[in-house]
Parts: sequence; C-alpha cells; structure tokens
Amino acid sequence: MSQNFLHKIEKHLPAPVRRTGEQPDSAKLSAEIKKLLKEKNAALIAHYYTDSDVQRLAEESGGFIGDSLEMARFGAESPAQTLVVAGVKFMGETAKILSPQKTVLMPDLKAECSLDLGCEPAEFKKFIEANPGRTVVVYANTSAEVKAMADWVVTSSMAVDLIKHLTSRGEKIIWAPDRYLGDYIARQSGGDVLLWDACCVVHAEFDATRISELQERYPEAEVLVHPEAKADVIALANVVGSTSQLLKAAQQSSAQKFIVATETGIFYKMQQACPGKKFIAAGTEPYGGKVDCEANCPWMKMNGLENLLEALKTGNNQINLAADIIEKAMLPLTRMLEFRKKN
Ligand code: 13P
Ligand code: SF4
Repeated sequence: MSQNFLHKIEKHLPAPVRRTGEQPDSAKLSAEIKKLLKEKNAALIAHYYTDSDVQRLAEESGGFIGDSLEMARFGAESPAQTLVVAGVKFMGETAKILSPQKTVLMPDLKAECSLDLGCEPAEFKKFIEANPGRTVVVYANTSAEVKAMADWVVTSSMAVDLIKHLTSRGEKIIWAPDRYLGDYIARQSGGDVLLWDACCVVHAEFDATRISELQERYPEAEVLVHPEAKADVIALANVVGSTSQLLKAAQQSSAQKFIVATETGIFYKMQQACPGKKFIAAGTEPYGGKVDCEANCPWMKMNGLENLLEALKTGNNQINLAADIIEKAMLPLTRMLEFRKKN
C-alpha cells in the first residue's frame, strides 16, 4: 500500500454514510421523480452500489441498473434526451462522452471515486511520456481527461479479455489506475503490464483472514470477489468478476450461501434475484489503518432520492465536458464497446 496514494485521496474522503433500507418518505419522492422522468423524457441509470430505493426506482421507471459497462451501453442506446446517472462522476462523464447531444444529470457531482482521484491527468501524462511504446489501457474509473490520453478504456467485466488480446498481438501495456485489478489482469493474461499506483479504498479493505474465518463458519458457501480486491482475497474466490458477473454467478450456482466481497449495495439485487439464498458480507479491515468504509462506498452513497429529485427539477448538476476532451475520449470508449460486441 502506497502512502503517496493514501495522502492524495485522504483529503477527499467524505464522512462515511451507512444509509441502509428505505427512507420514510421514499414512496412519495419516488412517485414525484417518476412523473418528472416521464415529463422530461429522461431515463434513470443506476449502479448496483446505490441505495436500494434508488435501484428500485430505476427498475420501476423503465430505467436501468447494471455494472459500469452496461450503464455506458444503456446510456448510449437509450432514446431518452436526458440521462440521470446515479453512480459516481466517471459514470456520468462516460454517459456524456458517448452521448454528447444528451443532457446528463447526477444527484451529486461530488460523488467521486478513489481511483479517479488517485490518477491526476497531469501526473498520468508524465507517466505515459516516461514509458513510450506501450499501449495505454485505462479503467473506466478515471476522469474524462485521463480517458482522452488512452488507447483503450476497459471495465472489470472485460479487462482480462482485452489484455489477453493485446498481449497476443505483442503489445506491452500501461495500466491505470487500479494496481490490484492491474496485478490480477497481469497474472491472468501473462502480459507485460506496467502498473499505476492507486486502488479502490472500498475493495482494498476486504481481508483474507476475516474471509477465511467466515469460510470455516460456512464451509458450504461460495466466495464471490470483485477484482478490485487484493491478490490474497482473490485467491480465496470461487468466482471473480464485475458486479453483474457476480450477480449472474449467484443466480446460476447451485450453492445456497455466498460470501460476497464487493460493495454492500449489491445485496439488494442479489437477494431479489435469488430469493431463499443467503448472502454474507465478507470481512474488512481499515485500509492502511486509516480508511474504514466497511464495504460501503462513501461516494456511491451520496446518491439519494432527495438530491435526485432536486437535480431533475432544477436541471442542476449537469455533466459538462470540453468538446476536445469528448472527441478524444470517445475513441477509446467506442473501441471498448466494439470489443465487447465482438468478443
Ligand atoms: P463494475 O464495473 O463491476 O460495476 O465496477 C464498478 C466499480 O466502481 C467497482 O467498484
Ligand atoms: Fe470507486 Fe471503489 Fe467506490 Fe467503485 S467502490 S466507485 S471503485 S471508490
């Protein structure tokens, strides 16, 4: 763990939000939002890590819940003129880059991501310049400026496949920003992958010892792990994958119990998709002894019904990006969608 990275993101960490369950006025707020979504020809696109009332509203209003790749795809294909993205800023920016003609709103523009914060564009530019001749592959969890410098953008659902493909063509890779995901990809692909130093502070908290203890208590349980977790946690996994891939694995498996090492928001959909199965939260330890999220992403939890309604009513919290950044970032993002279609 790098002190430099921790120092970079520490000042940005919001107070932990441990909101769970329904808000008392959830039904009234949801009804008002549904009406406005219709009136404004808007679609709500939510990530699995948002609160259950936000996810439910996305489903009930004909919007979408998915992993970051599916959110990007839905946004690009949706006929809606306004996209309301309940997630973190890079997800709103991706929607805007792929659909510059649409209005993209977010409940809170301060909903960041430790990976995006840990990869400052000017520093990343120097890193690329210091390592010429390498193909630049960046994770979707980056700013639009960083994407604009990349040859490829990937999400966790396809990162291994793409790096295998590039490696088979003899390409050497620069990977940013998640060093744990990068390390996993390098091991899976056997490729030459140069890593940037940042991580997801939420997934880096999952702790192999605590998970092994749970495995002793529930020996019949399968372990589902997001690849942003550390290598010793990934080593315990029955399945490693993106949020959607983990959800699918839980549905398809004959197991009745699962130890889940990803953000807690996913439990809403897992429980809904697999009634009767038991989902157990994997154990965590504070990251670097300092960051203690207990598997709740503090930025994802900034999305609530009140600020969603406010953004829709006022049109505030729009994603705006410079035209040249959109033009440059569109290329690696479009490549990502094309690659996924073909592979
Ligand atoms: P997914 O692409 O798996 O949804 O991951 C996004 C994310 O932010 C994980 O922490
Ligand atoms: Fe970023 Fe981690 Fe939050 Fe995902 S869970 S948005 S990677 S900080």
